[in-house]
Amino acid sequence: MKKIIAILLSILIVLSLVACGASESTPTEKAEETKAVETTAAPRNDTETAQQVDTSAPENGEKVLVVYFSANNYSDVDTVSSATPMIDGVSATELIAQKIHDTVGGEIAPIIPAEDYPTGYNEVADQAKNERDNGDRPAFTLSVDPTEYDTIFIGYPIWWYEMPMVMDTFFETYDFSGKTIIPFNTHAGSRDGGTYDDIRDLEPNATVMDGYNVTGGTDKATVDSEVESWLSGLGY
Ligand SMILES: Cc1cc2nc3c(=O)[nH]c(=O)nc-3n(C[C@H](O)[C@H](O)[C@H](O)COP(=O)(O)O)c2cc1C
Repeated sequence: MKKIIAILLSILIVLSLVACGASESTPTEKAEETKAVETTAAPRNDTETAQQVDTSAPENGEKVLVVYFSANNYSDVDTVSSATPMIDGVSATELIAQKIHDTVGGEIAPIIPAEDYPTGYNEVADQAKNERDNGDRPAFTLSVDPTEYDTIFIGYPIWWYEMPMVMDTFFETYDFSGKTIIPFNTHAGSRDGGTYDDIRDLEPNATVMDGYNVTGGTDKATVDSEVESWLSGLGY
């Protein structure tokens, strides 16, 4: 009889151990685990996730600023005779700036020259050439202090094969040591014109990435999709 009771007890112990092993995760825990994986696996721009994310603050706490200069973002412009092609009322460089801001978040601010440029191409071309030949440093205003940010996207058009001179004023005004600079620019054939290396020379203690450039006048859908994949390659 004692033997039978001992056998029955052993069977009971084995059964209860098996039951415990199977219930390592409660149904709620299982659901939580599944939810966590789904959240991690959800694409960056998943609509539901995007609605919950405050685009003014990137998720990792990184402070991001998008600054850009474009001769057309502050003047009343005749779009036919203007110095640069406008797309849906937005200049080429500004279009990229807005797309970066929409995707990454953070702040966005234009670099506004103290003096308006003319709106006709020949007039802007003459003024820009004089500035370059004279080594001018045109004054500008900016509504934020860019050195308060970790990562600064900086945009401009190519003028006379290089950055507009106001960008030299900009880089000489601020010390971006320890910051990450991500340039972008528009052009009519010069691509980046060696300007990313120029920025490296001007800001030797910053990390200056290779940027994105596109021909001014490229349609918005193309710019949007190119900028998206460029940013995705940078981890945004
Ligand atoms: C004064 C001036 C000089 C320019 N010089 C060049 C140049 O050397 N190389 C080039 O590829 N494009 C040049 N361009 C074309 C602009 O880079 C191009 O139109 C750009 O998209 C303008 O950007 P925005 O619309 O944001 O101002 C020049 C345009 C202007 C107004």
